[in-house]
Amino acid sequence: MTKILMVCLGNICRSPLAEGILRVKAEKAGLDVAIDSAGTSNYHIGEHPDKRTISNAAMHAVDVANLKARQFSVSDFDEFDHIFVMDRSNYADVLSLARNDNDRRKVEMILNRVYPGSDMSVPDPYFGGEQGFENVFILLDKACDVIVSTLHKS
Ligand code: 4NP
Repeated sequence: MTKILMVCLGNICRSPLAEGILRVKAEKAGLDVAIDSAGTSNYHIGEHPDKRTISNAAMHAVDVANLKARQFSVSDFDEFDHIFVMDRSNYADVLSLARNDNDRRKVEMILNRVYPGSDMSVPDPYFGGEQGFENVFILLDKACDVIVSTLHKS
């Protein structure tokens, strides 16, 4: 079974949405995939996703209401095959914990799956309005389509 971890800063906006979207797509495709998410920070440990994330996801028939935030830890490098980060600062933070090349090669900027080599970030929607959450959804929906299609082939 392939194990995939989505990572952002707080684990209450972008990465729980990425987890929920990928879970729906993987189930539809009949794939045997384990999906989780985590934050690089300890700011929101134990909290459910942001209300705006829950409602945006629900508009798209994705249920993230029961997820709970946790912090990324070094043991996640052992647990997961792929670690998708949302932005450059998540990338730097996760890479700073990597112990070796095997850890490092698991970490990818998620939008590089849609725009290879671009190192584009999924913008942090936390301090903005509803439109920011919809923008995040559109970007992550595209990225998860590509991820699922790659898993099909493997
Ligand atoms: P996330 O968004 O990393 O997509 O979960 C944020 C959530 C909380 C904060 C920043 C970003 N914060 O500063 O508390």
